[in-house]
Amino acid sequence: MTGMPPSPHLAHAPAVVVTGIGQLVTADPLLGDLSPLGVVTGAALVLQGEQVVWAGPAAAAPAADAAVDVGGRAVVPGFVDSHAHLVFAGDRADEFEARMAGRRYAAGGIRRTVEATRAATDQQLAARAASLVGEMLRQGTTTIEIKSGYGLTVADEARSLAVARTLTTETTFLGAHVVPAEMADDPAEYVRLVCGPMLEACAPHARWVDAFCERGAFDADQARAVLTAGMAAGLQPRLHANQLGPGPGVQLACELGAAAVDHCTYLSDADLDALAAAGTVATLLPGVEFSTRSPWPDARRLSAAGVTVAVATDCNPGSSYTSSMPLCVALAVREMGMTAGEALWSATAGGARALRRDDVGRLSPGARADLVVLDAPTYVHLAYRPGVPLVHRVWHGARPVTG
Ligand code: NIG
Ligand code: FE
Repeated sequence: MTGMPPSPHLAHAPAVVVTGIGQLVTADPLLGDLSPLGVVTGAALVLQGEQVVWAGPAAAAPAADAAVDVGGRAVVPGFVDSHAHLVFAGDRADEFEARMAGRRYAAGGIRRTVEATRAATDQQLAARAASLVGEMLRQGTTTIEIKSGYGLTVADEARSLAVARTLTTETTFLGAHVVPAEMADDPAEYVRLVCGPMLEACAPHARWVDAFCERGAFDADQARAVLTAGMAAGLQPRLHANQLGPGPGVQLACELGAAAVDHCTYLSDADLDALAAAGTVATLLPGVEFSTRSPWPDARRLSAAGVTVAVATDCNPGSSYTSSMPLCVALAVREMGMTAGEALWSATAGGARALRRDDVGRLSPGARADLVVLDAPTYVHLAYRPGVPLVHRVWHGARPVTG
C-alpha cells in the first residue's frame, strides 16, 4: 500500500498530507480493494510538488510538513474530460428547443457556430473558452481536451488552436468538422485545404488530429485522408464517428490506431471486435444523447466485448452544451447501464487512456495531484444525487483551486 519515496527533485518541496478521507478512489488497481477503482476506506494522501507521493490507509500515512483534514468526505481523481469544443461564439438554444419539440439533430447546425466564431475577436474567443474551463474546474475537471472546428479557414482554425493551447496541452485540430458553406460545392477542395495549408498552420498548436466521419460531414475516404495527413505531420489520430447512424468510422479509427473514437452511439458487433482488438478507447458522450434526444448506447455491451470506455462531456454549443462531468457520470449510470464505479472509472482513468496519459485520472504515487473532494461519503453519490453540486474542493497540481 505504501507509495514510492519522494523523487529527489521533490525533496525540498513541502509535503502536505490530506487526512480524514472517508473513501479514497485511487483508480489504481494495485491499491486499496484491488478493484479497477482501487478504493481505500479511511485513507490519507500525501502531495508534494505537483504530485501524489503516497496514498493508503490513514493509520500508515508518513509524516508531512502540513496537514489538511477533509472531514470524512470522499476523494476522487480530477475528472479527465477527453472531448470538448470550447473555442466558439454564440449559442444555439433555439435548435435545442426545436429538438425538444421533435426536430432531429443534424451536422449542418455546426455552420451557424462557424459564422459566429469567425465574426468574434481573438479576445472574445479566449474569454469564452477560459470561462468554460473555469466552469469545468469548479465541477472537478482537471484535464481537458479542446478541439478547433468552428473556424474552418486557415486563419480561424489556427487562432482557435492558439486559444486552446493557452488552456491545455491536449489540443486537437478538427478542420474536418464540416465542409464550410462557402465550399459546399467542392468538398474535395476543402479536404485538400485541410490536409495542406490548414494542417501546416495548425499542427504547431496541436497534439491530435480529428475528423467528423458521419453522414452530412466527411466520408471514410475523406476522414482517412485528413487523419493520415495529420499523422504525417506528427499529430496523433482520434475520430468522431457512429453518432448519427451506423458507419465506417469506428473501423477506420481502429485501423489507424486511433487513441479513441468518440460518440459510438451506433455500433455493430464487428465494430466492437475491432475496438477490443485495436485497444482504441470508445468515448461515450451522454450529454449528446441527452441534448439531441438520441438513443442511448449500451455501455454494458461495450464492456462485455472487452472495450475500454471513456465518458466525456463533448461540451459544444450544438449537441451538448454541458460542462459537467458529474452530470455525464449520472447519465452514463442511469441511461447507459453503467454502475457508478464504472462511470467514475471511465470519467477519470478511461479519459486518461483516451488521451494516452498515465499521469492523470488516478491518485497514486507519481500521478499529478489533481483531486476532487466530494461533499459526500462515497463516490456513488455522484450518480445517486444527480444535479447536486457535490464538488467541495479541487486541487489541481497540488494547488487548491476551489474551496
Ligand atoms: O461532437 N459531432 C460533431 N461535432 C460536435 C457537434 C458540434 C455542433 O453541433 O456544433 C459533436 O457533437
Ligand atoms: Fe465532438
